[in-house]
Amino acid sequence: MSAVLKLTDLQPTPDDISGDVLAGLSRHPKRLPSKYFYDRRGSELFEEITRQPEYYLTRIELALLEASMAQIAEAVGARAHVVEYGSGSGRKTRILLDGLDDPVAYTPIEISRSALLASVERLDREFGDVEVLPVCADFTQPVPLPRPRRAADHALVFFPGSTLGNFTDTEAVRLLRAMHQTMGNRGGALLGIDLQKSPAIIEPAYNDANGVTAKFTLNLLARLNRDIGSDFDLDGFAHRAEYVENAGRIETFLVSRRAQDVTVEGHVFHFGAGEAMQVEYSQKYTDAGFSGLAGLAGLKVVRAWNDPQDWFGLRLLRRD
Ligand code: AVI
Repeated sequence: MSAVLKLTDLQPTPDDISGDVLAGLSRHPKRLPSKYFYDRRGSELFEEITRQPEYYLTRIELALLEASMAQIAEAVGARAHVVEYGSGSGRKTRILLDGLDDPVAYTPIEISRSALLASVERLDREFGDVEVLPVCADFTQPVPLPRPRRAADHALVFFPGSTLGNFTDTEAVRLLRAMHQTMGNRGGALLGIDLQKSPAIIEPAYNDANGVTAKFTLNLLARLNRDIGSDFDLDGFAHRAEYVENAGRIETFLVSRRAQDVTVEGHVFHFGAGEAMQVEYSQKYTDAGFSGLAGLAGLKVVRAWNDPQDWFGLRLLRRD
């Protein structure tokens, strides 16, 4: 059977980009949703970020996953149906599928049909030994899982990269509740989370010397200009990312370099010189903070693995 035929399309409601942008620009302070960073160019730039020396998250998570894999496999148990949020993170997925005890199937869940279709053949080729059952759906909602040919013992949701940190705490709890339903009562979830540490380590990761993160942030405006016909002047905005210690998170802004007007769908928005528009949060967690969020979703941390410096963690969640 062709890989494409195995795709389950739950027809998620398409994003209302114009509506979200108009709503965000009408707020004080202005904001834009970070989920719109990831058009094709944005995804390429994010890949490039992960190779920057300052961006420690990906390198450390990969090493941690490799070093902890035997213990993770034992804690997860045999014959898992692995469910990844996103269209497959390549090396991390490979380490997990190779290291687990007899995984039965692998389901990437992705809202963008085109991104999922683009990755389906690669996934089938790379993970040919495990049944690949992609689902086009919004993972912030509960997702009914396809039934593998061979019965699975339980589901394991894999959500690496500290992507949870790009959601506000309220959104994160909502997402974890949906995750709880997707994985079911016997299931588990393995999450990668970036941990609180010195701002001297965190801030450079979002202000790399090569300027790739700045390009990534500004690409949001290019994407909006292309997709909803806005007229943001990319030279009129500057990237700013700072670690706010009392919130434990990186807050990223696009700062207007001068007084200017921007038109979106016929609506004119004025930016003052130096006005900062919030575009992304990257939450860094404490153990108590993360357990608290999980608890609000009826989940508990049953196993935890950190790298030797306690910079990044993997957490296994189960029903509380
Ligand atoms: C995908 N996400 C976890 C990244 C992060 O670290 O918050 C996105 C990113 N933004 C700037 N650099 C990387």
